[in-house]
Amino acid sequence: MSLLVQNLRKSYPTRGGELVVLRDVNLTLEPGEALAILGPSGSGKSTLLYLLGTLERATSGVYKLGDAEPFRLNDAELAAFRNRTIGFVFQDHHLLPQCSVLENVLVPTLAVGGENLEPRARELLARVGLTERLDHRPAEISGGERQRVAVARSLIHSPRLLLADEPTGNLDRATAQTVGKLLVDLHRQEKSILIVVTHSPELARMFPKQMEVLDGSLVPWSGGDKA
Ligand SMILES: Nc1ncnc2c1ncn2[C@@H]1O[C@H](COP(=O)(O)OP(=O)(O)O)[C@@H](O)[C@H]1O
Ligand SMILES: [Mg+2]
Repeated sequence: MSLLVQNLRKSYPTRGGELVVLRDVNLTLEPGEALAILGPSGSGKSTLLYLLGTLERATSGVYKLGDAEPFRLNDAELAAFRNRTIGFVFQDHHLLPQCSVLENVLVPTLAVGGENLEPRARELLARVGLTERLDHRPAEISGGERQRVAVARSLIHSPRLLLADEPTGNLDRATAQTVGKLLVDLHRQEKSILIVVTHSPELARMFPKQMEVLDGSLVPWSGGDKA
């Protein structure tokens, strides 16, 4: 499933008039590609990730994921499409405190029913190195381990598109490296498209491709000399 974005625009109506956050974003990615998106604070990185994740609708422009045009779906269809197709990792892990590590990875499957994904959950937790922590609660593991659980959870439905917004923003440098490498490795095994938003040039360099949001457009990254 390839990703195609053409002339994507996002603006918000404000009291002072229309606030244009993304003016003209263009992007094409093929399965197996991984992209890091940089940019100053407030440049619109999270907004772009929310659009790509279909959590928000664009003001105008084209967005295609494979044969689908998500913004042409109604809200119910879009929610089902998103659940099947897209995985998310956020800066805060959003794990449920009362659930075990294993249960947290299975949370996205509860609403859907169907196939028993517990074997896949166990396998993913093994791949992120948490086999020894399956019964722990989030409060009983470290910050890096919590983020590794969030990575495993994001992959439970084998999403064709994996999106991460500052996934290492709350982690120390060494732990951030581990989680970054895990994202790159897992996405490669899954042959999905991975897009990571980060303000860290160090994390961005772990990815084969980097771009930055500048003046409402997505442009090739200048290389971090300004960062
Ligand atoms: N719902 C909204 N209404 C109005 N402005 C918004 C809304 N969401 C985001 N913005 C504005 O869009 C700009 C980009 O925000 P964001 O995408 O969060 O930036 P980044 O993630 O790069 O720091 C900011 O100026 C922010 O204030
Ligand atoms: Mg942001």
